[in-house]
Amino acid sequence: MNTSKNIKYDRNVPYNNLPELPPSESIIDKEVLLKWGLASRALAELNKNVLRMPNPLMLINTISLQEAQSSTAIENIFTTEDELYKAVSDTVKEETANPATKEVLRYREALWSGYTALSKKKTFDKSIAVKIFQQVKNTRQGIRPQQSQVTIKRGQSEFKSGEIIYTPPRGAGIVEKKLNNLFEFLNNNTAFDPLLKMAVAHYQFEAIHPFTDGNGRTGRILNLLYLVHQKLLSHPVLYLSKYIIMHKDDYYHRLAGVTQRGAWKPWLLFMLNAVEATAQHSNQKIDEILAQMEATHKHAQKKLKWYSYELNQALFSQPYIKQKLVGEISGATSRTTLTKYMQQLAELGVLSAQVEGREVFYINDDLLRILQE
Ligand SMILES: Nc1ncnc2c1ncn2[C@@H]1O[C@H](COP(=O)(O)OP(=O)(O)OP(=O)(O)O)[C@@H](O)[C@H]1O
Ligand SMILES: [Mg+2]
Repeated sequence: MNTSKNIKYDRNVPYNNLPELPPSESIIDKEVLLKWGLASRALAELNKNVLRMPNPLMLINTISLQEAQSSTAIENIFTTEDELYKAVSDTVKEETANPATKEVLRYREALWSGYTALSKKKTFDKSIAVKIFQQVKNTRQGIRPQQSQVTIKRGQSEFKSGEIIYTPPRGAGIVEKKLNNLFEFLNNNTAFDPLLKMAVAHYQFEAIHPFTDGNGRTGRILNLLYLVHQKLLSHPVLYLSKYIIMHKDDYYHRLAGVTQRGAWKPWLLFMLNAVEATAQHSNQKIDEILAQMEATHKHAQKKLKWYSYELNQALFSQPYIKQKLVGEISGATSRTTLTKYMQQLAELGVLSAQVEGREVFYINDDLLRILQE
């Protein structure tokens, strides 16, 4: 039971009294339930909607990447999402990256390695967290050693110094013990719905702060994977990070509120809002993409006999298309035919050509516009 209200709290001292889960069930009141309903509904809609997409994972790749892309100078230099991802990961230093870019550095790899680990093992446990952390931080370290003096400071990500706002638990076996309790709660508690468990666990994970760094990013990825594990999502396609980064002050404030005042309710509402807003945003994108897909299909099919449903799907599986892909799907084996096809697609406005050095890429401008808006 959560008795944090009765415990004297000092932000400069390791918070070894961090209460174990579950918190009191009374934190789920009417307002929380109403919000939970809205968030659950938006999430269920997303989960259904996503299966109508030719490539569900494109959403998370492109939406997350757009956030970083729009706020850095790397715009327009790289032509495929893959290259952009690689360029972001290879050239940007974590310490100097802005929050949006820092988020996508190794985000995809970390998400994937957690997702694959989960689909193999099926159990949601500490090892998943460690795996994500290792990818996020590009390290082989594990849970922080008991002597490491980790603190959270004000304005931590912008500049190094600042007053201490929180000191996580520290001491022999204490992090492991609290993590075990956390995963036990996630796996076995039946009094809380999975979405609420995710919200509760996210606070707890950040409060335990099991790693020397990267706890925020690891925790945000864990949220998604837990939703997948609980079958609330078939693919980890909810980009909660943007909402959290955009509302960072509020997010920090409400996290601290749980520690200092046992104020679970504002925290739960924040997380449910994040889920609802993000799912709605993605739903809107999917609707727009599907509508555009249909319009493009109709338009192109009328003019080009060889334009198939499969090709249309492929052209909407990602915004940057290589000629080779069109060749494979349309069955245009000769160079002349393929060149003619590409010209026709460009004339119709389905794709536009972009030359990068010796390579020509084709861009689905409609798709790109929807993703960037
Ligand atoms: N008062 C607090 N109590 C518990 N956790 C907190 C508190 N304030 C912030 N945090 C968590 O600590 C995270 C930052 O920790 P850390 O630097 O290890 O993660 P990061 O991934 O490197 O950073 P970021 O989350 O800023 O990208 C925040 O994202 C937040 O989740
Ligand atoms: Mg950090």
